[in-house]
Formats: sequence, structure tokens, C-alpha cells
Amino acid sequence: MIIDRIPTSGFVDGKKELMIFRLFFCYSNIFKLFLSFTHEVVSLRRILSNFIKESIMETIIELSNVSKIYKMGDVDVPALQHVDIVIKRGDFVALMGPSGSGKSTGMNMIGSLDIPTEGVISLAGQNIAHLGESALAVLRGKKIGFIFQGFNLITNLTALDNVMLPMIFQGVSKYDREERARNLLKKVGLEKRADHYPSQLSGGEMQRVAIARALANDPGVILADEPTGNLDSKRGEEIMHLLQELNNQGKTIIMVTHDQLLAEKHAKTIYHLKDGEVINVQQTSRRKKK
Ligand SMILES: Nc1ncnc2c1ncn2[C@@H]1O[C@H](COP(=O)(O)OP(=O)(O)OP(=O)(O)O)[C@@H](O)[C@H]1O
Ligand SMILES: [Mg+2]
Repeated sequence: MIIDRIPTSGFVDGKKELMIFRLFFCYSNIFKLFLSFTHEVVSLRRILSNFIKESIMETIIELSNVSKIYKMGDVDVPALQHVDIVIKRGDFVALMGPSGSGKSTGMNMIGSLDIPTEGVISLAGQNIAHLGESALAVLRGKKIGFIFQGFNLITNLTALDNVMLPMIFQGVSKYDREERARNLLKKVGLEKRADHYPSQLSGGEMQRVAIARALANDPGVILADEPTGNLDSKRGEEIMHLLQELNNQGKTIIMVTHDQLLAEKHAKTIYHLKDGEVINVQQTSRRKKK
């Protein structure tokens, strides 16, 4: 419409200013249209690239229709019921729910520490139901680092020896084990505590040794069951900062927590469990921000 009102051949005498004004009006509208089009294209590109990224992100652990029923004499205790969980490389997943809802059982399944009564667990595309215990142990040792709620450090070993321990089972030489363990203790800010025993460390320090130990074989996946459960809020934040950094570096983190705020701040996906069932899968703002 605007273009129709612009003469196609030169300026008309005496109407030069009006013509310039019309031209300016016309081009500014075209420019605005161009800007809004560019904006739309940029938004569309962002949406598309996020979609493509999400779709091609490799699934590294998948629980399909997994149930776990413990037999207690004649009584069946259904700890997990028909659970589906998909974990992609680089994800940060939180498992939440009341006590007894199946979080630790779920973690044990994700970490292939236990086998399901029903359903399929795939680790890096491999159905682990077909693997024997020793093959499973090797796979776990290489691919998964565990951080347990109660730290689970070996009390009669120093911090350094605790961190070196998982590397023995992967056949790493003593020299390399020690060098790597010292580097990991440095990474968690404990290089000066290498020769201390767990009883000589604070709760936060023991948890950091546990993180260094979980990183010993450079696993792609870290499972942390209530990593801040035994710590005060300041130490808890330090531990979460460490986990967040590891996630930013590309490690996949799966964490059990009772703390909704903590989960929303750090995780991208939260699985809410109740009575062994997944009742909600929440995508947090960390996922949406990407
Ligand atoms: N080895 C076992 N034998 C029998 N029942 C078990 C066993 N382990 C767990 N359970 C039962 O399975 C259910 C889920 O337990 P789980 O430890 O997974 O819960 P949770 O969500 O981790 O709880 P919490 O927050 O208290 O740690 C509970 O009812 C528990 O009593
Ligand atoms: Mg538990």
C-alpha cells in the first residue's frame, strides 16, 4: 500500500519535502519489517537449534518399565513400579520424593548396582540384564562415579589412598594412581589433606574426598545420593558448586535430594517419585534457558 503512494519517476516540483518524507516513511517501515523478520528468524533458529540439540543428545542411561519388588518373607515390597527414566549425556537430573518413595532404589538401578525384577536398563546402549556381575563391575567402574550419602570413605585409609582405590580395579599403575589422586584432591581444594584419615577431616572435607574418589576413573556419569544431606548450608553450597562445575564440563550428574530449591537451581530435569512411581517429570528453568 505504502509503495503504491510513492511516485515511480522522480520528484514533483514543490512537493520535494513531502516526497522525501514519504520515502523516509516507506523505507523506515521496510526497515522495521526487516528487523522484526530478522528477530523472528533468530528466535526460530534458537528454538530449532535447541530442539535439534535435545534430539541428538545421546541417551546414556535408560530405564524402561522398570520395577523392583523386594521379597520380605511372604510380603512383596514394591520399591519401584513401572518407572521410565531417560538420561542424556551432559544432563543434570534430580530424583526427589518422600522417604521410602524409591529414590535410592532408582539410583541403584541407574548405577547398575542392582538388577530390576522387571523392565530393561540400558547403559550406553547396552542392556545390562545380560551382563554378569564381573562385567557389570568393570562397566560401572569405568563409566560411573558414586558419591554416597554417608561418604563411605574407608576409615583406615588416608584421603589419598581412598581416592587411589577405584583405580586399582581398573589396572592403573601405582605411579599414575598417585599422580591422578593428588591432582583430584587439588581440584577439590584438599591437596594439603592428602595424608589425613577420614576421622581427621570435617564433613564437607570428607564429602570432597568422596567427590575426588568418584572422579578417579574419569567417569562420564556421577551419581550422588543426597550429596549435601549431612552438611550445613555453606558446605552444601560448596559441594553443589563442584557438581555444577563438573556438569558444565560435560559430566552427567544424577542426584537424589530432598531440597526442591537446590534441585531447581542445579538440575535440568527433576523426576518426582511417590510410592515407587514417577508421578511428575519437571523441566526446570536451567533446561529452558539453554
Ligand atoms: N533391601 C531391601 N529389602 C526390602 N525392602 C527394601 C530394601 N531396600 C529398600 N526397600 C524398601 O523399598 C522402598 C523404597 O526404598 P528406598 O530406599 O529406595 O527409598 P528412598 O526414597 O531412598 O527413601 P529415603 O529418602 O528414606 O532414603 C521402601 O519401602 C524400603 O523399605
Ligand atoms: Mg534413600
